[in-house]
Amino acid sequence: MQTVRSGEELAQALSGLRSGTLALVPTMGALHSGHMALIAEAKAQADHVAATIFVNPTQFNDPADLERYPRTEGADLAMLTKAGCDLVWLPPPEQLYPQGFATTVSVRGVSERWEGEHRPGHFDGVATIVAKLLLSVRPDVAMFGEKDWQQLAVIRRMVADLGIGAEIVGVPTVREQDGLALSSRNALLSADERRRAVALPRALEDARDAILRGTPVIQATAEATSTVERAGFSRVDYLALVAGDTLEPLTVPAGGARLIAAAVIGTTRLIDNIPL
Ligand code: PAJ
Repeated sequence: MQTVRSGEELAQALSGLRSGTLALVPTMGALHSGHMALIAEAKAQADHVAATIFVNPTQFNDPADLERYPRTEGADLAMLTKAGCDLVWLPPPEQLYPQGFATTVSVRGVSERWEGEHRPGHFDGVATIVAKLLLSVRPDVAMFGEKDWQQLAVIRRMVADLGIGAEIVGVPTVREQDGLALSSRNALLSADERRRAVALPRALEDARDAILRGTPVIQATAEATSTVERAGFSRVDYLALVAGDTLEPLTVPAGGARLIAAAVIGTTRLIDNIPL
């Protein structure tokens, strides 16, 4: 695997990968099996696979969250090598945000509710960096996890609107044996919080089952919210049924609907979602 940092190194490495199709897997590092599922899907869909590791400061609305975000570069590079990734780009921040940087990519509508409401500016940071990564690498296809469902929807909208010629592929969420979605932030949970955290995916499943049995959506989501709070989460930011593409709230089940949630346990905020 080639490991590159500067723009010149990237350009040179990319010129060697232009023979076939290229897939890109953007990450913020602290890699786990969820990220590796994206690499595996990338390998299945393209001749060459490139990954990026960049803890993007502009998508952190809370400086403390950025400060404590896990950084495990050595282990990340070993995992990517083992998975058969061809190229990894670790850009220095000043390369992506040079002095005088003044442009923001902002996606109206789909980015405004839920994460957008609770993390002001977050999706502007995500859309801006993902646009930059896609324009720098110019892959044929790029992989994103369904774990971050709203992020995936925002990126699909942005790529369509800006005419960025990359196919966006969503990869299903990889979970721990007990059902907790893998996340770099799980490393920040205490043993006790980790045990309790499984209440979040369980509550989503309970809400799904209740809705499919005919329970009114507001009743099912309210009950699931109480269950999560009783399990030891200090706050549920939202737990809702939404349209899968626009993220508009739904009061009755519809095709493509998704149950989405965000909740805080201890000092860690977890998000999750499942299809209806
Ligand atoms: P990060 O949180 O590192 O995630 C990188 C990619 O891995 C995202 O597409 C995310 O949805 C996916 N992923 C994370 N956990 C997963 C799981 N359990 N199963 C499947 N996929 C999973 O998301 C970001 O970084 C950033 O916002 C980024 C897109 C890189 C822009 O900075």
